[in-house]
Amino acid sequence: MVTPFEERILAERRRMSEPLESLQKRVQDFSQGDKSKQILLDTLRYESTGHLDFSLFPCPPVIDHGEGAILYDVDGKAYIDLHAGFTVNVLGYAQKEINEAIKAQMDKVIQFAELPMQPRAELARLLVEHTNGDFEKKVMWAVTGGEAVEIAMKLARWYTGKPLIITHWGDYHGRTAGAMGLTSKAFMMAYSYPIPPMDTAVVKIPFPYCYRCPFGKEYPSCDLFCADQFEKMFESKETWLNNPKAKVVNVAGMLIEPFQSSAGYLIAPLPYLKRMKEIAEKYDFVFISDEVQNGMGRTGKLWAIEHAGVTPDLIAAAKSLANGLPLSVVIGRKEIMDSWGPGAHSSTFTAYPAACAGGVKLFEIFDRDRVLENAAEKGAYFLEGLNELQNRHPSVGHINGLGLYLSLELVKDRRTKEPAAKAAAWALQRLLEEGVICIYSGYYYNRLCFAPPLVIGKEEINQALQILDRVLVETEKKFDIQFS
Ligand SMILES: Cc1ncc(COP(=O)(O)O)c(C=O)c1O
Repeated sequence: MVTPFEERILAERRRMSEPLESLQKRVQDFSQGDKSKQILLDTLRYESTGHLDFSLFPCPPVIDHGEGAILYDVDGKAYIDLHAGFTVNVLGYAQKEINEAIKAQMDKVIQFAELPMQPRAELARLLVEHTNGDFEKKVMWAVTGGEAVEIAMKLARWYTGKPLIITHWGDYHGRTAGAMGLTSKAFMMAYSYPIPPMDTAVVKIPFPYCYRCPFGKEYPSCDLFCADQFEKMFESKETWLNNPKAKVVNVAGMLIEPFQSSAGYLIAPLPYLKRMKEIAEKYDFVFISDEVQNGMGRTGKLWAIEHAGVTPDLIAAAKSLANGLPLSVVIGRKEIMDSWGPGAHSSTFTAYPAACAGGVKLFEIFDRDRVLENAAEKGAYFLEGLNELQNRHPSVGHINGLGLYLSLELVKDRRTKEPAAKAAAWALQRLLEEGVICIYSGYYYNRLCFAPPLVIGKEEINQALQILDRVLVETEKKFDIQFS
């Protein structure tokens, strides 16, 4: 039976909104101390319930300050940070050299919208010089990750004169109207009602989530079946991508996260990414890597896509560019970047000078302290620890990790792979109580994701693993998860 339209919409809205009283109860039940409680209650009193914080944790911590990879809340409780503000704080908290550079710029001039300044020019040079590719490159600045994504979309369409952008289901590219056309979050449909979050010229294909292959195959024996299926879309006359007879390709670009972030820190097989780039070259469209969360050393290379030996035409980056100040950028081929004229895009706080000054210092530290190599090494160490936990914990169905970008997927039964979403949410809260901050996410809300500041020490990784071990024991007991 078909539910009447109004009833369906109203029921969906009721399920998705949470009354203020319920959020206040969460604060009463779970806040970490009196000061935290008061600030959270004030927050709920004066801010919209639409913020992300209460969707990340049953009750979010109230951070006061940080040092390296350790955060302290307003009640003085310490946390090992395995989140880095969604990978923003790449070199950790209270990084004196970066903060000094930011403050010095603040004392000179804070912002004059859109005018070129020295730190901006310097950071542009550093980004260009540090990005692979034996072709000339340039940058275009913005403020947020979503904005950088939208610039990349706009550029690809402008440059090629073609409409379609291809992306993966499960990718996250931001929540502004344009970027949301690429982001796949089930709840976005309802929040955008009555106008769906759709850019009508976006085509989505399945991401190679090999633990749960959308085609029921196994990697690597699948021989990249998914990539073959994608390529067939260009050969058939029954898609919009290409008109083989008229030899007209309608694709402006492929814009993907090399490794899906909000969908649970999923590492795509590297040959798959290589294949996507080959298809982009064959059909002559722009290949764009969204490195907003994967990039800036997170995976042990400056850009995640480098692991696949792929040089994208454009890269969108943000979050960690300035270790915490808002700044985003598109880096890419000169001929694309110079294909449009002055004023093609603008944003008042673009290339915020203090952020650029922080970014310049950040690159200096990256080079001096071999930050990328260290991230790769500490990531391998962390991954080894997670592998060891998997041997002993029946709830750990799957582990992913590259550099300090790691995750584990909780299941009720390893054989059936039934997702253990409630167990993951419960474990997340217990980890917080025990002093570890991480994210939970995944196609089925059942993955714990770890992205510490790249300066995290091995001792802190050990401590986090010990706490995780204890929490998994409790979780398995509570949710009756055993080896079958
Ligand atoms: C991969 C990716 N792209 C784009 C964005 C959007 O960035 P912002 O929130 O700064 O708009 C995010 C944010 O989490 C992201 O992870």
